Amino acid sequence: MKYKAVILDLDGVICHTDQYHYEAWRTIADELGIIFNEDINNRLRGVGRMQSFDIILENYDKAMSEDEKLFYTDKKNSIYVDLLHAMTPLDVDPDVMSTLSAIRARGIKMAIGSSSQNAKMILHKIGLFSFFEAISDGTNITRTKPDPEVFLLASEYLDIDPPWCIVVEDAKAGVDAAKSVNMDCAAIGDAADYAPATYSLGKLSDLLKYL
Ligand code: BG6
Ligand code: MG
Repeated sequence: MKYKAVILDLDGVICHTDQYHYEAWRTIADELGIIFNEDINNRLRGVGRMQSFDIILENYDKAMSEDEKLFYTDKKNSIYVDLLHAMTPLDVDPDVMSTLSAIRARGIKMAIGSSSQNAKMILHKIGLFSFFEAISDGTNITRTKPDPEVFLLASEYLDIDPPWCIVVEDAKAGVDAAKSVNMDCAAIGDAADYAPATYSLGKLSDLLKYL
């Protein structure tokens, strides 16, 4: 067996919540009159909430206090959480669900490795909270991707050393995080053509041929 564990990012890999992040940030950017587009949004993938706002503020020409930053990041999160409320298990693509089941059938362990503080709530909503052996997320890390902390904790929770783990990511920051600690990385979506990734996936089930 080449890998003993698969560590999966959540937003943009298991479900399409990356679109909701985009919508919520766009509302905030519009309110502040800041330019915001897909290219800027792609830089926010895998990056924590406050760090994401700092990237958006690169295009803001006024000063903003820490209190104001907290106000806007809280507001972004409320908009985002409202969008999450309608989610159900039907929001998991059939290709994703069948791939997760196939990985489990091969006896390979699975963990979530996400920067999001909303990860557990999303997993409950899509019916996958109990599916994974471990969840490492934005509530237990001190540094966001591209720091590898979230993946190292996932491998620790699973009790499987990094070289036996493969990470699945749609964020370039996530690919960098995995590679920096000797984990292979299968990249999908926005990161699919990112050269440092070990494999490029068109859809999640493409992963099965590399396991
Ligand atoms: C990551 C997303 O999964 O979580 C980022 O890719 C997001 O875009 C980050 O900023 C933090 O999410 P949350 O839900 O804690 O605001
Ligand atoms: Mg992601």
